[in-house]
Amino acid sequence: MHVRVSIIGTGYVGLTTALALAYIGNEVHCIDQNPRVLESLTDGRVPIHEPGIEDLMAMNLSLTFGEWDSFDPASDVVFIAVGTPRKDNGDADLTYVEAVADEIGRRIDEKQALTVAVKSTVPLGTARRVEAILINHFRERGLATRFSVASNPEFLREGAALYDTFYPDRIVVGANESFAVNTLRELYTPILEQTFTPPAGIPRPQGDKLPVFLTTTPTSAELTKYAANAFLAMKISFVNEFAGLAEYVGADITEVARGIGLDDRIGLRYLAAGAGWGGSCFGKDVSAIRHTAAQYGYDMYLVEAAVQANLRQHESIVKKLQARLKVLRGTTIGLLGIAFKPNTDDVRDAPFLSVARRLLELGATVKTHDPVAMPTCRRNHPDLDVIYCDTPEELARDCDALALLTEWDEFRHLDYVKLGQGMRQRIIVDGRNALNRVAIKAVGFTYVGVGR
Ligand SMILES: NC(=O)c1ccc[n+]([C@@H]2O[C@H](COP(=O)([O-])OP(=O)(O)OC[C@H]3O[C@@H](n4cnc5c(N)ncnc54)[C@H](O)[C@@H]3O)[C@@H](O)[C@H]2O)c1
Repeated sequence: MHVRVSIIGTGYVGLTTALALAYIGNEVHCIDQNPRVLESLTDGRVPIHEPGIEDLMAMNLSLTFGEWDSFDPASDVVFIAVGTPRKDNGDADLTYVEAVADEIGRRIDEKQALTVAVKSTVPLGTARRVEAILINHFRERGLATRFSVASNPEFLREGAALYDTFYPDRIVVGANESFAVNTLRELYTPILEQTFTPPAGIPRPQGDKLPVFLTTTPTSAELTKYAANAFLAMKISFVNEFAGLAEYVGADITEVARGIGLDDRIGLRYLAAGAGWGGSCFGKDVSAIRHTAAQYGYDMYLVEAAVQANLRQHESIVKKLQARLKVLRGTTIGLLGIAFKPNTDDVRDAPFLSVARRLLELGATVKTHDPVAMPTCRRNHPDLDVIYCDTPEELARDCDALALLTEWDEFRHLDYVKLGQGMRQRIIVDGRNALNRVAIKAVGFTYVGVGR
């Protein structure tokens, strides 16, 4: 099927979706309002870090970028993939989504059928709200366009965004009209049936499991996304809570996690104890769904506990440093990793931010190194008074301790003899249980893990 697709918002979700849909044979035009992002994309440069994304950008796909003036009024499907950041009251900010609905309503042509798919993570009722904005415009303009607003939540993981988009577990569509469901099903058919040739560097996983196409109501689709993120956050907080107990009783959480994760009912993923979760989604989504529940006077006990446990987990890294160094004022601490997880440059809500801020409050000097996230951090947190270092060796120089906060592959194979030579004291807090503690201890470091 040849569908004219417009994607609004070219961040982690919008750009990934655009590349994947163009790769499987669609004509895709993307709109963004950020001049920096657009300039980069129209030059063929990718403004974010995602494995495989540069190679797809370099292909000759039917993929274009522009400002709102370039919006294709004949689009068949318009995806909304703009941000929904946290407001001060905890709810998701719908300003961007509503502004997009407004632009679509003003610009779309009279059409036989238009499907608007909301990919952004949005509070319940947002599909209906977008629909109302469009109806107002169509009435004003006297358009008889048949249209449907579907909720099509996104489940990709940053750091594996293209992989997850080409090989999803499921695609969820919540819509009230069957034509929107059918249009999206057709659009996704090459992915649902896995009939495309895998892009170089993003091989198809082994096995013959095909993605499930799950259709439901818009409200259930919207809630599915929040429930998924709340569950994953809770799973990580759960293992972190047990990691804390493991430290008291002398157990090893990595073995306990494997022991429970091998049970199919539990599963091994998202069971790695560490410095706690962060990122652009978990914190704001968990906050938004609690806000929604509060509007009904309904307590989300487990979700609330997941947040509390996570705050304690960020703080636990600082406590481990205090336990070894006693007074932190006057010390120099090197933080290995800024990004909230490896293979991304995203620093939104990264544990690094809360650990660095707390250390600064306590009077320590904070140095940091990250293979890709330093420019993003500098740009988004210009006031954060940390020293950016170009190499791990430069980072370690004159440090009293190091703490690993992001398990980048390159951090797993550092030359600890060399690092240790420049340090004042050889202490390393492995906030991701990712390092070879035997090798590290062998060269004279004090090694401190999480829950072991
Ligand atoms: N990042 C993830 O891992 C992820 C995963 C699943 C769902 N989501 C959800 O998807 C949505 C987008 O997330 P993201 O991380 O891609 O965001 P992002 O901040 O990386 O990108 C959003 C883009 O939208 C653009 N934009 C904002 N308002 C606009 C407007 N009126 N017109 C045109 N462009 C506009 C911004 O300039 C920006 O480039 C959010 O709701 C998020 O919760 C994100």
